[in-house]
Amino acid sequence: MKLIGSYPSTRLRRNRKTDWSRRLVSENNLSSSDLIWPIFLTDGKNQKNQISTMPGVYRYSIDQMEKIVEKALKLKLPLLALFPYTKKVNKDKNGSEALNENNLVCKALRLIKKKFGSEIGVMCDVALDPYTSHGHDGLIKKRYVQNDETVEILVKQALLLAEMGCDVIAPSDMMDGRVGKIRNALDKKDFKLIQILSYAVKYASNFYEPFRDAVGSKKNLKSNKKNYQMDFFNQKEALREVSLDIKEGADFVMVKPGMPYLDIIKLVSDNFKIPVFGYQVSGEYSLIKNGIKKKLISESAIEESLLSFKRAGASAIVTYFADYIAQRLR
Ligand code: PBG
Repeated sequence: MKLIGSYPSTRLRRNRKTDWSRRLVSENNLSSSDLIWPIFLTDGKNQKNQISTMPGVYRYSIDQMEKIVEKALKLKLPLLALFPYTKKVNKDKNGSEALNENNLVCKALRLIKKKFGSEIGVMCDVALDPYTSHGHDGLIKKRYVQNDETVEILVKQALLLAEMGCDVIAPSDMMDGRVGKIRNALDKKDFKLIQILSYAVKYASNFYEPFRDAVGSKKNLKSNKKNYQMDFFNQKEALREVSLDIKEGADFVMVKPGMPYLDIIKLVSDNFKIPVFGYQVSGEYSLIKNGIKKKLISESAIEESLLSFKRAGASAIVTYFADYIAQRLR
């Protein structure tokens, strides 16, 4: 692109002089419709438990869901993402609680869908890590997370979630081939219109730690997830992941984490005509939140951080700031 213009006839600061003018020329915007709100679930009644590594984020018991959904509707948030904190007694090496129709996510799904129907979307992760005693996303044999055997369970988990009323099935496990198998199984059971948000590009990141604390898998996880999640030295590999998942039937693709991976969001959105979502993960949240709490940065940094996803080409952002920002945007 050849850029033209020169000082002093061209002064870029002219368009920046007033607020109305800045608004007039702004290239991106942020609205509550761009935001996906993650909610952590816990057992019990009347619970709203602080997560120490994520100040301002809580684990809620199922009876609190009605209030949460009403708040989300008022704020015009389109989609909630449910994540369970599973009690130790309910975890085993195969993550069998994932297939229990009375697990926390299933109970919450039934309740939300019964009360609110299609007024709001609900997305659920397909992966075993909140349910396994070792904290990995799949079955382990010979210290290796097995691919094809894990996929078989993930398909069952996806079908169960669909039966419970889940709108958006979000495989976050990084097994090969799971999107196609899940799509196939959903179609066979007449769940043709249930959407799949593939965590297509998910890096083996250090920024997930507070989340693992939130879902109670941190202490269990003795090793890293590098033999299934992506290596953060790589960029081109992301295109292969996305391309496969689109072929297998994904409706949207996620890049995760967000801010340290904006180059990847940009790369994917430039190369594919599919909605790309970014996930501002727990570590990103906690760094910003603690920075604000310690008065190192001001609250406006939150909006700035979310705009960076939009500039990179994301059509939506999963963020623990969703409710807060949606409130501010009103
Ligand atoms: C589970 C999952 C993870 C996150 C979302 N789904 C953690 C992981 O893969 O270890 C991370 C989200 C966050 O950090 O906010 N597969």
